[in-house]
Amino acid sequence: MSERARFVVVANRLPVDRITADDGSVDWRTSPGGLVTALEPVMRRMGGAWVGWHGASNETVEPFEHDGYSVIPVPLSGDEYEEYYEGFSNATLWPLYHDTVAFPEFHREWWDAYVTVNRRFAEATADVADDGATVWVQDYQLQLVPKLLREMRPDLRIGFFLHIPFPPTELFQQLPWRSDILEGLLGADLVGFQVPGGAQNFLRLVRQRTRHRVERDRVHVSGSHVCTARAYPISIDTHGFEELAQSPEVIAESESLLEELGHPKQIFLGVDRLDYTKGLRQRIRAMGELFEEGKLDPADTVFLQVATPSRERVEEYKRLRDDIDLLVGRINSEVGGVGRPAISYLHAGFPRATMAAMYRIADVMVVTPLRDGMNLVAKEYVACRPDTNGALVLSEFAGAAQELKQAYLVNPYDLNGMKDVLMQAATDSPRERQRRMRALKKQVRGSTIEHWADNFLGDLQG
Ligand code: ADP
Ligand code: F6P
Repeated sequence: MSERARFVVVANRLPVDRITADDGSVDWRTSPGGLVTALEPVMRRMGGAWVGWHGASNETVEPFEHDGYSVIPVPLSGDEYEEYYEGFSNATLWPLYHDTVAFPEFHREWWDAYVTVNRRFAEATADVADDGATVWVQDYQLQLVPKLLREMRPDLRIGFFLHIPFPPTELFQQLPWRSDILEGLLGADLVGFQVPGGAQNFLRLVRQRTRHRVERDRVHVSGSHVCTARAYPISIDTHGFEELAQSPEVIAESESLLEELGHPKQIFLGVDRLDYTKGLRQRIRAMGELFEEGKLDPADTVFLQVATPSRERVEEYKRLRDDIDLLVGRINSEVGGVGRPAISYLHAGFPRATMAAMYRIADVMVVTPLRDGMNLVAKEYVACRPDTNGALVLSEFAGAAQELKQAYLVNPYDLNGMKDVLMQAATDSPRERQRRMRALKKQVRGSTIEHWADNFLGDLQG
């Protein structure tokens, strides 16, 4: 790579994953998850370089240009994939940071791999960043990069944003490597969290566990710089989603979807990565009981649940996949409509246009994670629903609930409560649903991904 970049995003994943088929042919596919959905439009606007892993292990890929910016692939060996990605990132940090809804595992060799890979990301970034460039490091997989990078390149302006929750101090303290992670993050000039509670948890830990002086949201990192910690709730490219959902292709696709589903009177929709934090077991049980009790009629109501395969070799994810298959099978065999199952379950990823088509036709969008940093699906639905007749059912434990207060809020651990709210969302008067949806649309239009990036980067330069 000859030219160095003035702006660099560093994330575990690139926006596209390299897929090698059995016959050796290579294809690129959009990477899963909210981080890529959010940052892609930012990168298209800013230009610069995106440093990240290309999604395949034991393969080296040369840098290339994509959508007006440079893509700098960072390789992972097979062992690193297991220990850094599946292990420390997704079987230690992920459950720990999501309120231990699954049990986090602590292994010293996973930590060693995490340190090695974080150093590799820092080195790749140090190589590509121009003098005095702005570098924006993303998410829990790369918490050591800010400090490592500052040691290599003190001239850089370094930001860090955590897309997932930052846990309460009692949980974080379990981590044998808690001080290293705090110091790693403190290498940044600005650390961003989804909600104010995350920033507060972080600052409390810095006070308890380090010797640095903390003054409100500013940490004076001894002998070095000031690191500020604040909340920057992430959002979506609202206008882009609105336009996509109104396009003739998406309208046509939503009509064929309705046709395939047999033109039901009412559609409930769930859209998630297949992850145990998303509350799928509870949601499907609640919907199943509503069908079983006759409160919902499979003759005129469909529950469409789409789940993108995710982290498929990690034990908890394998268990979840089996549980959901069983649960959906059982409910459908007990309450199936004629020729059409009550739950239409699709275990696959879909192009963004297809997602927009699904959002268009959903009467009730069901977003019920047990814990979620933000949850962009909730915002995508609000942007894509063409009128104000849809209803959003949203977990109190998603970051999005702090902004989307007019959603039908639920506690996903309370099955009866959730069933009541699902029925309320489905049967409320058009006037009440419209009132809520209008407020939600206003919120999602007034706080977009451009605002998020401008606020964060403005403060980072400040
Ligand atoms: P997370 O980052 O934990 O996956 P978010 O709700 O913030 O959760 O973001 C999920 C993103 O992935 C959204 O942009 C959503 O549209 C996309 N997505 C979820 N499920 C699918 C699917 N089955 N096919 C394609 N995209 C999906
Ligand atoms: O938004 C949370 C997040 O974990 C991202 O960091 C990640 O890229 C995405 O979800 C999907 O997960 P994974 O990269 O492990 O497939």
